Amino acid sequence: MNLLVVGGGGREHAIIKKLRENPAVETVYALPGNGGIAADAVCVPEIGAKDIDGIVSFAKSHAIDFAVVAPDDPLALGCVDRLHAVGIPCFGPDAKAARIEASKVFSKNLMKKYGIPTADYQVFSDAAKALEYLRTASFPIVIKADGLALGKGVLIPTTYAEAEDAVRSIMEDKVFGESGNEIVIEEFLTGPEVSVLAFTDGTAIAPMVSSMDHKRAGDGDTGLNTGGMGTVAPNPYYTAEVAQQCMDTIFLPTLAAMRAEGCPFKGCLYFGLMITPKGPKVIEYNCRFGDPETQVVLPLLKTDLLTVMQAVENETLADLTVEWHDGAAACVILASGGYPSAYEKGKEMTIPTELPANVTVYHAGSALKDGKLVTAGGRVLGVTARAATLETALSDAYAAAQRIHFDGVYMRHDIGQRALAAGKG
Ligand code: AMP
Ligand code: GLY
Repeated sequence: MNLLVVGGGGREHAIIKKLRENPAVETVYALPGNGGIAADAVCVPEIGAKDIDGIVSFAKSHAIDFAVVAPDDPLALGCVDRLHAVGIPCFGPDAKAARIEASKVFSKNLMKKYGIPTADYQVFSDAAKALEYLRTASFPIVIKADGLALGKGVLIPTTYAEAEDAVRSIMEDKVFGESGNEIVIEEFLTGPEVSVLAFTDGTAIAPMVSSMDHKRAGDGDTGLNTGGMGTVAPNPYYTAEVAQQCMDTIFLPTLAAMRAEGCPFKGCLYFGLMITPKGPKVIEYNCRFGDPETQVVLPLLKTDLLTVMQAVENETLADLTVEWHDGAAACVILASGGYPSAYEKGKEMTIPTELPANVTVYHAGSALKDGKLVTAGGRVLGVTARAATLETALSDAYAAAQRIHFDGVYMRHDIGQRALAAGKG
């Protein structure tokens, strides 16, 4: 079989490595892929993930049997709709279903209409009205731009003055572009966060192993928000009891709501949850695999990934038992010095050729230059280890990470520490 994967980050690298475990897979094309993915797939750097015309014509001319659209942008732009229109089976939601991530107003209204637990909120399309509301609000409060904003569209001001700045920068200065035409202002919730990715064909659902992201750039959850500096799976806060509550009050109601709205969700639905004193609530939905959650979740998948993805596409997921390995996985991100602010690119990397069998290095921001791997992004590599315990997974991931070098490399040193403490408590 010939497969096509749209995207070019660490998440896509993890998806591609897993897909290749199926012996029926001959060629995997990555559009655009990256320098490290080139070891596992045929990369097509000329076709970017948002070039929907380019992706569709490539798929038609390369006898693609199955496509996986991984990032949010092409999903929101209707890449799956377009591939389906030319008869190519795909994994991923259509544009209508992708609104669950692409529009916060859509997802908040959906949750309200169908009684799915989430933070109380108001929607504003007028900055003056938003400011008037904020004058009597209690702080901290959460302000979200409606549309996709590279994971940066959420601000949590602690005073009215900060909130005013936030509203003006989103709605008037348009720092997130058209994403900021409308904003959601919502209640600040507290509690541990859990990411749950789930395979769903619109009706049946197979939640994956839970995980925990580490979004801030610095140790101890300090510094700026990033795309994620590391992950662990499973997440100790996601107990069997919490999982059952989530299934009953969030997962199944969300799928039913999407069906009722005429946009059944097929693909990977990501539930960003907060376990509040009043039970689990939805912080956000993503219409795709998380990054770097995928880098810890997929290594724990025992069932063949392509088989699961085909069952999603064929709406036969209910007939399949999706199985998981015991144990844990940890991923430590190696980033370019300066990230998430300005950073330099083009630094040569050295990665030991011999790493332990339980360690995998996923490439995110890497490129090939004159046959050598160089840095090409903020988050460069994700070093994942799988082991019987989280403690061992973490020490193996960190041991491998220390052996990888490039100019200005930095990583967080406390990935998984909160999970370890919670697991012991
Ligand atoms: P997001 O980009 O939607 O994942 O949001 C970024 C982060 O903001 C989340 O991971 C949470 O830590 C935080 N956040 C978002 N919404 C809320 C909320 N209602 N209450 C507290 N924290 C929130
Ligand atoms: N790691 C969070 C995300 O993928 O949105």
